[in-house]
Amino acid sequence: MTKTLMVTGASKGIGLETVRRFLENDADLTTVVLVARKSDEYDQALAELEELNTRGVTLAPYYADLADREGVIALCADVARDHGNVDILVNNAGYTKPVPLQQVDFADFERTMAVNVYAPFTFVQELLHQGNQFQLIVNIASTAGINGRSGWLTYSASKAAVINMSEVMREELAIYGTRVVCISPGRTATALRRVLAPDEDPSTIMQPQDVAAVIEMLASPVGRFVDSANLVVRQ
Ligand SMILES: NC(=O)c1ccc[n+]([C@@H]2O[C@H](COP(=O)([O-])OP(=O)(O)OC[C@H]3O[C@@H](n4cnc5c(N)ncnc54)[C@H](OP(=O)(O)O)[C@@H]3O)[C@@H](O)[C@H]2O)c1
Repeated sequence: MTKTLMVTGASKGIGLETVRRFLENDADLTTVVLVARKSDEYDQALAELEELNTRGVTLAPYYADLADREGVIALCADVARDHGNVDILVNNAGYTKPVPLQQVDFADFERTMAVNVYAPFTFVQELLHQGNQFQLIVNIASTAGINGRSGWLTYSASKAAVINMSEVMREELAIYGTRVVCISPGRTATALRRVLAPDEDPSTIMQPQDVAAVIEMLASPVGRFVDSANLVVRQ
């Protein structure tokens, strides 16, 4: 039996901590497909994960800018060819550039939608086209997608779309035995949070390990008793 986990935005923050938890705790895991852009930080994260990887799980890094839809489509074909079925997909990668409404650059709005909404959609659609049968899809939205925040127009709008898109995925994919969970974290101490709130003390807010623990729980047998339309995770 194989069990493959795929995590986008796996180079740092919540995505990296999610990979770490599964590697440490899921004895059935055979492959992890990781996605982020090429960087020293990603290389360093991969090296640290390899050190933790005492059970010989295949760690398969891929490099892609998720704003590039053609690249995402090609990546899905590569993953299907190289690793077969993806059992658990965590659509975690996220982007934001907070500015007041008057300063929103339309190209940046499109980039935000491409990374936060179109990429998770494309991963699911393209892998389905490859014949993939998902057990579980976890889409990471945000509490900012439930209530819009001043200065965060593009980010809030994109995350609201993730919440709604997840509801449709949940309904449409249930017949294939796929569970779709949307989680909306609150403030979490990561690089992305520093962009949104540069003056905040990261030690006073939720840590990425906390969100990763919730994702792990959702993938465990008990997870199916707690999935809901949109699971808010906050301190
Ligand atoms: N931190 C919070 O307070 C908070 C709250 C609610 C929701 N969230 C959501 O949680 C998710 C994870 O974010 P995080 O807080 O863990 O932030 P993070 O540490 O900054 O990680 C973001 C991840 O997304 C990837 N990413 C961003 N743009 C990309 C692109 N164009 N192509 C490929 N990968 C890209 C990054 O990879 P690169 O190495 O390529 O940059 C990185 O791995 C996001 O969806 C975010 O919106 C965060």
